[in-house]
Amino acid sequence: MSKQTDNIEHLRQHAKLASEKAHAPYSNFKVGAAIRMHNGDVITGCNVENVSYGLSNCAERTAIFSAIAQGYSAADMATVVVYTPSDQTYAPCGACRQVLAEFLPADAVVSSTSEGAARHWRVGELLPDAFEFDVEAYRKKTL
Ligand code: THU
Repeated sequence: MSKQTDNIEHLRQHAKLASEKAHAPYSNFKVGAAIRMHNGDVITGCNVENVSYGLSNCAERTAIFSAIAQGYSAADMATVVVYTPSDQTYAPCGACRQVLAEFLPADAVVSSTSEGAARHWRVGELLPDAFEFDVEAYRKKTL
């Protein structure tokens, strides 16, 4: 197995374990995500649903927000692997793509894995032409 495949399989195992912790009583679709940091640490997340459906949080965003809450920053985040208990793969939703683009570089790999298939993208492919905002430049112009 190549180093890259090895890394993804290792993260898939973490993401699969995380999926078992999901709070998904409405969809019954338990998703897990695992982020590998440049120092080798792995931070995971799962989807957390709400009776007010729109408040539900996907596994990818839970993992990223959890990493931030634990003291990691964008500079630490290297690779994300998502796991769904399925025979197919699912691409990250639009909200997660925006959050992935906030914290991972455009060339970082995001993988969707399951029991039967895997797909890989770069963050920049998931959200081409991402919204970028230079707050300092904007303030200088407007204040
Ligand atoms: N979900 C994720 O956690 N990640 C994805 O990439 C797609 C969807 C969750 C949201 C919701 O709790 C459930 O899967 C069904 O949409």
